[in-house]
Amino acid sequence: MKKILSATVVICLIFASCKNSKDGNAEMDRFIDDLMSKMTLEEKIGQLNLPTIGFDITGPVLSKDVEQKIEEGLTGGVFNTFTPQAMLKLQEIAITKTRLKIPLLFGYDVIHGHKTIFPIPLGLSASWDTALIRSTARAAALEASADGLNWVFSPMVDIARDPRWGRVSEGAGEDAFLGSAVARAMVEGYQDGCLRKNTSVMACVKHFALYGAAEAGRDYNTVDMSEVKMYNEYLPPYKAAIDAGVGSLMASFNTVNGIPATCNTRLLTDLLRRQWNFKGVVVSDYTAIAELENHGLGNRQEVSALSINAGTDMDMVSEYYLTQLPALVREGKVKESVIDIACRRILEAKYKLGLFDDPYRGVSQERADKEIMSADKLALSKEAAIKSMVLLKNNGVLPLSKDKKILFTGPLADDHRNLIGNWSGAGDSKKSVSLWEALLKERTYMYAKGCNLTDDKTLIDKLNPHDGQIVPDDKTPQELLQEAVKMARSADVVVAVLGEPFGMGGEAASRSNIGLLENQKTLLAELKKTGKPIVLVLMNSRPLTLEWEDKNMDAILETWYSGTMAGEAIKDVLFGNAEPEGRLTITFPRNTGQIPIYYSYLNTGRPDDENQKYTSKYLDCPNTPLYPFGYGLSYTQFEISPVTLSDTTLAENGSLEATVTLTNKGTRRGTETVQLYIRDLTGSISRPVKELKGFEKVTLEPNESRQITFTVTPEILKFYNASLQYTVEQGDFNIYIGNSSATENKTAFTYKP
Ligand code: GLC
Repeated sequence: MKKILSATVVICLIFASCKNSKDGNAEMDRFIDDLMSKMTLEEKIGQLNLPTIGFDITGPVLSKDVEQKIEEGLTGGVFNTFTPQAMLKLQEIAITKTRLKIPLLFGYDVIHGHKTIFPIPLGLSASWDTALIRSTARAAALEASADGLNWVFSPMVDIARDPRWGRVSEGAGEDAFLGSAVARAMVEGYQDGCLRKNTSVMACVKHFALYGAAEAGRDYNTVDMSEVKMYNEYLPPYKAAIDAGVGSLMASFNTVNGIPATCNTRLLTDLLRRQWNFKGVVVSDYTAIAELENHGLGNRQEVSALSINAGTDMDMVSEYYLTQLPALVREGKVKESVIDIACRRILEAKYKLGLFDDPYRGVSQERADKEIMSADKLALSKEAAIKSMVLLKNNGVLPLSKDKKILFTGPLADDHRNLIGNWSGAGDSKKSVSLWEALLKERTYMYAKGCNLTDDKTLIDKLNPHDGQIVPDDKTPQELLQEAVKMARSADVVVAVLGEPFGMGGEAASRSNIGLLENQKTLLAELKKTGKPIVLVLMNSRPLTLEWEDKNMDAILETWYSGTMAGEAIKDVLFGNAEPEGRLTITFPRNTGQIPIYYSYLNTGRPDDENQKYTSKYLDCPNTPLYPFGYGLSYTQFEISPVTLSDTTLAENGSLEATVTLTNKGTRRGTETVQLYIRDLTGSISRPVKELKGFEKVTLEPNESRQITFTVTPEILKFYNASLQYTVEQGDFNIYIGNSSATENKTAFTYKP
């Protein structure tokens, strides 16, 4: 009877704390009030301290004496460590040796999987499959929580329209609507509706805010943007994560309109707390509080006060809170009530995670062994990889047939480390499957490395100290090239697997030139001279400038870094065992000069017109991108009928239906992502020429047709006007339904309230 009773009590506790029911919060408030009444000022400030400890390095400096600080009650959590052993050891110190036995948070950058690595987020977003994306976050949470973690610094939702910025790889591309859908899915996957479950982890939406708009695509650089643009185009994904219940948020390194996000009261208090009612924890980015001195905001005392008063609760690594806040409070420069609010938020997070009941959250090596890289997660990784790939060009050379003589070449054809990309610290690249390995499971093809990943010594010297693992081949570049060209001459078709070393993407990895590396271009040019059909398979962090490749290759398959099962997935797509179904979530420019370039641009007063001199255009390049947002090919051909509307007038509380018929006109099954865009033709501010407002993935057999209907309501027409009111205005709208943002398949309606 006792056993049943205790189980019932636990279930009620979980229900109460999960459902945020009134009595659940009242119970939590009572518990935390009681705990905080016992805490000294130093212990409260200790909860605001987040040092790095363990085997991963994700910033410029490392924390010291962490175990001692844990024992002294001067640490609220740690990050960059995992495994059951590490967590059990450190948590035991916290709950047995400290005065108040407050458990620790254990955080880590679980960005696209924990041990089972999925495609980089930019790739995952190209699946346009929110259920799949949610599943990958759920799988990551199962592995991470089994490995002792209870906090993940994900999802990164920064809208980015400048592929020079290496961190475009970590987000969901350029669009607020799609980015919001991905943000929701990731938070739901990680938190699973209830943080108290020991298979849930607290998510952390980042980097707040506008980090992806860094000037010149240079990491950490200045961001300056009108609030209208901010609210309409960059803030929605953060808000979506908050509305999905994200438990924490990370402030970004950059300034926003002159004030660093870390101490930006408008962002962290006025917007986040007062307008959006965010109740979770705000953590700084790595040493960002200390870096306020570099921003010129004052000395360490002054920047510590600015940051805590603006609303940054937790100090990642700089330890300025630990060293400066006690005196600031005693000198009356910071109110103790401000410390109390920050401390309470962190204790609430721990309470919601159930850490006061079960600090170890049922972690054990057995559970980790069962969860980590389980067959179902590996299968999910392969499925995600397949669905993330984008076929950019195909003149019919794909899918390949197995009876052809095929040369596989390129430094990434038989590579393991780059497959799992950046931010895969817990991943084991030795367990990733290279394309060549996957091929060899079936039969032998021809293989020649063709070239090194790069011959640029300066680049190698920059990347290798940070796990770059770029090891030039024993053969000279000339020998590698000659060997590949000689083999190509006897092949029916060549598959060149090229791209960026993974260290050219992610943090502190901006590029001023985003083409293929020179030695790889040389390989392609020499292979082209053989006259053989060439399939270019890309592995990269960002959109690349591919004008020459687009002209000269017979097919181009964008695979991003597609994770642990990349090789199997790429093989299946190349040979047609799986269909490519990815669609771009970020524009591919023709050249760097076009940047920033994105589909939802404003028309300007002199829209591009090649017959008119005085219009908005370049003398040396079209305005259009090489590949637009939403673009991707299939192995089959789809046709989308003209758009029909249930009505041409939309009333204030009404809705209308926009319908097309999608038909598979080809000979193979295929999946299309049907996309709905609107254009507000007249507004109180200039409105974009297109805005994504809906999408649906549809799989059809050959000759199969299906009606796709989108419901249009006044809600989806809303935008922030010049006074930042979220509103819809009367007037005419175009509605587009097509297979990319370049579609001109449109009709019109009027909104008449
Ligand atoms: C890094 C990144 C951030 C990451 C954090 C902890 O500097 O900006 O995305 O979560 O530090 O590793």
